[in-house]
Amino acid sequence: MTGTDRSTGSSTAQSSDTTTAIASATVQVAHTAHPGTAEPVPAFLDLHPTPADLVRLVRDGLRSQPKQLPAWLLYDQEGSRLFERICEQPEYSLTRTETALLRREAGAIAAALGPGVVLVEFGAGNARKVGPLLQALQPQAYAALDISREHLAQACAALRPAYPATPVLGICCDYSAMDTLPLHPWLQGRRVGFYPGSSIGNFSPADAETLLRQFARLLGRDGQLLIGIDQPKAVTRLEAAYNDAAGYSAAFALNLLHRLNRDLDGDFNPEAFRYRARWQAEHSRIEMALVSKRHQTVHLQGEPWSFNQEEALISEYSVKYNREAFVALAARAGWQARRHWADPDGDLGLHWLVQAD
Ligand SMILES: C[S@@+](CC[C@H](N)C(=O)[O-])C[C@H]1O[C@@H](n2cnc3c(N)ncnc32)[C@H](O)[C@@H]1O
Repeated sequence: MTGTDRSTGSSTAQSSDTTTAIASATVQVAHTAHPGTAEPVPAFLDLHPTPADLVRLVRDGLRSQPKQLPAWLLYDQEGSRLFERICEQPEYSLTRTETALLRREAGAIAAALGPGVVLVEFGAGNARKVGPLLQALQPQAYAALDISREHLAQACAALRPAYPATPVLGICCDYSAMDTLPLHPWLQGRRVGFYPGSSIGNFSPADAETLLRQFARLLGRDGQLLIGIDQPKAVTRLEAAYNDAAGYSAAFALNLLHRLNRDLDGDFNPEAFRYRARWQAEHSRIEMALVSKRHQTVHLQGEPWSFNQEEALISEYSVKYNREAFVALAARAGWQARRHWADPDGDLGLHWLVQAD
C-alpha cells in the first residue's frame, strides 16, 4: 500500500520476558564453513521466545485496555504466507514502491555506506528486498533476523546460492527484545542495520523511539541504519491498502486467532470476530483490529477471557511519518539523518541514519 506496512512490532506488552528466552535459547539449524577457515560455524540461530514467554505476552496483552497483542504474533508460518499475498495485492503498493526504489538506488546507497559492512536486516521476511543491496554493497556478511522461523530458514536457503560470496546468517528472534546480537564471527565488523517495509510503524512513536535506541546498541557505536518509512497519504488509499478486496489483510489478522488456538490451546471462534482497519488521523496511523461480533468468553489454556460486543482486539498499528516527523523521532533516539532517497511520487522514503555524537 502505498502507504503501508505491517511489519513487526511488539508493543508495550513485551519486554524483559523475551530476553529470558534469548538467554535460554538453543538450537542451530545449519552449519556452514566460515570463509577462510575450516571451522564450521552456525548459519542459523534459533532464539525464538519460549512458550512460557508467549503465555505471558498474551496474558499481558489481553489484560490491557484496549486489548492488544504484539504485532509479531501475526507471523507464524501461515501469517508469513498471507503477508506475502498482501504484498502482491493491487491496493498495497508499499512493497512494489520500496523494491523499485532499492533497485534504482542500490548503487548510490552502497557508495554512501562504503565497503566492509556487516548488513543486519531486522524483520527480513522473504529477504527479497535486500537483493539489490547485496549485489551492490557486497557486504562481508548478511544477517537476517525474523520471528517466523521456517519462513526465515527458507529465505536464507534461497539467498545463499544467489550470493555465494556472502555468508548468510539467519537469526530467529524477537529483535525488539534483544539486548545484544549473538556472538558470532560473521557479525564482527562495521554493522549497518536495514529495516525496510516501514515496519517501525507497528510500534507506537514512544516504542519506536525505544526501538531505535535499541538498534543503536545492537549495531554498536559506529553502527548505521537504512530504514524505509511510509508517508501519510490519502485516507482512501491508506484504508484500501489495509482492506484489500481479495481479503488477505482480513485473513492475515484472523490467522492470529488460529495461532492462539494452536499455541495456547484456545477456543477462539474466528467467525465470531470481524476484521477492521481504519485511519486514525489524530495518531497518523492505521489501526488494525479484530472486533467481537457479540458478547463472548473465550479460553486460552483454560483461562477465560471476556469480549463485549464490538470490543476490539488490536492486532497491529501502522504509524505513518512524513520526512520531518521521522527525522525528529530518529533524533530523539540519538540518530542523525545523513541522506534520504524517495520514490518519484514521494510515497516512501529510505533514510540513512548515523549515530549522533
Ligand atoms: C511487514 S513484514 C516485512 C517483511 C520485509 N522486511 C518487507 O519489507 O517486505 C515484517 C517482518 O518482520 C518480522 N517481524 C515482525 N516483528 C518482529 C519482531 N519483533 N522480531 C523479529 N521479526 C519480526 C515478521 O515475521 C515479518 O517477516
